Amino acid sequence: MNGHQLADEDFATADESVRPRSLDDFIGQDALRANLRVYLDAARGRGKALDHTLFYGNPGLGKTTLAQIMAAELGVSLVCTSGPVLERSGDLAAILTNLNRHDLLFVDEIHRLPIAVEEVLYPAMEDFKLDLVIGQGPAARTVKIDLEPFTLVGATTRMGLISSPLRDRFGIVARLEYYSPQDLARVVLRTARILGIDITGEGAEEIGRRSRGTPRIANRLLRRVRDFALVHGSAQITDTEASHALKRMDVDELGLDQMDRKLLEVLIRHYDGGPVGIKTLALACSEEVRTIEDIYEPYLIQCGFLKRTPRGRVATARAYTHMGLLS
Ligand SMILES: Nc1ncnc2c1ncn2[C@@H]1O[C@H](COP(=O)(O)OP(=O)(O)OP(=O)(O)O)[C@@H](O)[C@H]1O
Ligand SMILES: [Mg+2]
Repeated sequence: MNGHQLADEDFATADESVRPRSLDDFIGQDALRANLRVYLDAARGRGKALDHTLFYGNPGLGKTTLAQIMAAELGVSLVCTSGPVLERSGDLAAILTNLNRHDLLFVDEIHRLPIAVEEVLYPAMEDFKLDLVIGQGPAARTVKIDLEPFTLVGATTRMGLISSPLRDRFGIVARLEYYSPQDLARVVLRTARILGIDITGEGAEEIGRRSRGTPRIANRLLRRVRDFALVHGSAQITDTEASHALKRMDVDELGLDQMDRKLLEVLIRHYDGGPVGIKTLALACSEEVRTIEDIYEPYLIQCGFLKRTPRGRVATARAYTHMGLLS
């Protein structure tokens, strides 16, 4: 280990330092990466702004990273904002009129854009024009302002909450999938190299397997495992070392943490495996509905432990087995 490690309190900065900067550096999502390469080359070749792009997928899978990579690959600026920040249409108008030719405008959590703001976006996306209403009542008039051609890059964890007029205006719609354990092991090795952490291939695989298909979690677990190794006085992280640390952190063989298991346990023990409404479940787990829907549930569904039914959430037979409970 070297002496230049980043302080862990500074997690956001640490996260930035290991973010891939180019498409070649971006691990996994092979089909999507190959397609993006084509779209980027084509846009550059035609000398046009890249088509508006919508990324959707669970938290920590690389949406923001890809937006940054696209701007870097195109050699343009990335202007970042987010749905909840843009409260009034004027906020968006101010940003749009300040964009330079072919810039990327990144709107995170685009499903949380207020409808009035969204409507300003339609003509901007379609014709690079802004329809501004000046004045009020009978004296109100509309002026059209020309914008520089730009690319809107939207990101969302909730495709279902995006209105169809907005969705239809994106030329590229790309879904980010959970990563394979092998890809996550590569993410761990890459991050370890950047942070100067000594880890074996098996150690990286152990962390990769337990990272819930998510690079952000893989990076976080690597840092924590590193802490345990440091305190243990181990110079190198092996699979035994990793496995020991992950156990201490209450991360099980499939990457489920305390909250995942609590959810399944409440569902099984208190509600006979369901169906239970999401609000009841959230209350019983003292967690927010949104957090459960955005973070915990997608992975539990992916593992085949939980099902969404019209009457509520249901635990599957696999969940009983994994939890060591009888159905
Ligand atoms: N394909 C990848 N290869 C290597 N590292 C990755 C990859 N994708 C994501 N990461 C790492 O995971 C971290 C989280 O990714 P990112 O911030 O892009 O996720 P996100 O999809 O925008 O999440 P959120 O929905 O929470 O905003 C990044 O800082 C980066 O270090
Ligand atoms: Mg993001």
